Amino acid sequence: MTLTYAPFTIAVDGPAAAGKGTISKALARHFMVAHLDTGLLYRAVGRKTLDGVGAIEAAQALTADDLHTDDLRTPEVAQAASRVAVIAEVRSALFDFQRAFARRAGGAVLDGRDIGTVICPEAEVKLYVTASAQVRAMRRLQELTDAGHATDFARVLADVEARDARDMGRADSPLRPAEDAVTIDTSDLTIAQAVDAAVAQVNQRRT
Ligand code: DC
Repeated sequence: MTLTYAPFTIAVDGPAAAGKGTISKALARHFMVAHLDTGLLYRAVGRKTLDGVGAIEAAQALTADDLHTDDLRTPEVAQAASRVAVIAEVRSALFDFQRAFARRAGGAVLDGRDIGTVICPEAEVKLYVTASAQVRAMRRLQELTDAGHATDFARVLADVEARDARDMGRADSPLRPAEDAVTIDTSDLTIAQAVDAAVAQVNQRRT
C-alpha cells in the first residue's frame, strides 16, 4: 500500500557510506514510493568536469541520460562530485528537479546531504544516517574491492575523511542534521536492523 496520494517526503541525509542508499532503497520498496539518489546528480556533474566541461555548464545541461553512465561510482568521481558540490550555481541548477521530485504526488524518498535542511525542510520524515569514519571506510573498501578496484584501507579512509570535511565545511548547504532529524547510527547495526529502525520512524509519522 502506498503512503498517501498527497506529497509525503522522506529525507535521508548523512555522510558517505553510512548506509543512506541501502536504507532509502528499502524504504522506497517498503512504502512503495519513488526514490532519488541525489548524489548521482553531483556525481554526473563531477564526471563531466573530469572530461574538461565546466561544472556550472554541466549542471545546467544535465539530462536523465547522464545519470546512467557506468562509471559514476568510482572514487575519482566521488571526489569530483564533492568538489563541484561546493559551487552555489551548481547546487541551484539542481535544486528545482530535486524539489519537484520531493513533493511529487504519492510520496518520495530522497537521499543526500541537504534534503532535510535545504531541498525539503518541510519533509514529513527526516533521518540522519551516520556511522564512524572507520566503519564507513571498511564498507567502502569492501564495495570497491568487490567491484574490482585496487585500493587499500588507508587510502579509502583518507578519501572518506576528505569528503566529510568538504561536505560538512562548505558555505552553501553544508552536511548537517536538520534540527528535527532523527539520527540512526549504523556503526553497530546490521542492514536489517538499520532498515527496521528507519521503517519504524516513518510509521510513527504516518497519519
Ligand atoms: O551520496 P554520494 O556519495 O553519491 O555523493 C557524492 C557527493 O555529492 C558528496 O560527497 C557531496 C555531494 N552531494 C551533495 O552535496 N548534496 C547532495 N544532496 C548529495 C550529494
